[in-house]
Amino acid sequence: MHTRDFHYYEPINGHGLSHNPLNALVAPRPIGWISTRDAQGRVNLAPYSFFNAFNYEPPIIGFSSIAWKDSVQNASETGEFVWNLVTRELGDKMNQTSTPLPHGEDEFPFAGLSAVPGRVVNVPRVGESRAAMECKVIDIVQFRNVQGEKISGWMVLGEVVAVHIDKALLKDGVYQTAAAHPIMRSGGMNDYVQVLPENVFQIARPEGAGHPASHGKG
Ligand SMILES: Cc1cc2nc3c(=O)[nH]c(=O)nc-3n(C[C@H](O)[C@H](O)[C@H](O)COP(=O)(O)O)c2cc1C
Repeated sequence: MHTRDFHYYEPINGHGLSHNPLNALVAPRPIGWISTRDAQGRVNLAPYSFFNAFNYEPPIIGFSSIAWKDSVQNASETGEFVWNLVTRELGDKMNQTSTPLPHGEDEFPFAGLSAVPGRVVNVPRVGESRAAMECKVIDIVQFRNVQGEKISGWMVLGEVVAVHIDKALLKDGVYQTAAAHPIMRSGGMNDYVQVLPENVFQIARPEGAGHPASHGKG
């Protein structure tokens, strides 16, 4: 085995580097561009790269917030959110929507984006985005550390109840991830990775390993 010299640390004692490498290790990350509405009907939009899909059927997706931010507050008030796909041409506008505006101030007009009403939920999606998923909240979880103490991070999980996909991204019924040029969060504060068709390659799964697309599991 190749011998490597590992930088080792235990996070409780600090990482000993000039930057915390966590975000760079778990990267690139898909971006949950999350629209919500508060109980008074006011709209909000913000990016969350602690975002992923967690179940296939029913589809469950979730995002997490390092603190109780507006998106979490709104999701808890109205039980709904919408995920919007961030592609290369929307990168700057997505970034603008991370500006901490006063609670209740709408990031859609602020970033020059159009709000298209949801079909199932009462939350708008980003009209310029090429895919969106409307969700109903199923759980809001406050994280705890290994001592069992509550910490400031929260996770919002939602069941996907409606999906919008630009038909130009479908080829023979298969959604072409790379054709949309999605961008993902990577490494340091300002780093992103763009997914392009030439970066896609295949690794065939072992016999019996199961594929969600064919078996609905794993
Ligand atoms: C690309 C990107 C990804 C981000 N990911 C997260 C995240 O995963 N968790 C988080 O708490 N904040 C994240 N932020 C910061 C929030 O977007 C920012 O705090 C925003 O103002 C929150 O908006 P809200 O209070 O309207 O929900 C991210 C910002 C950017 C630009």
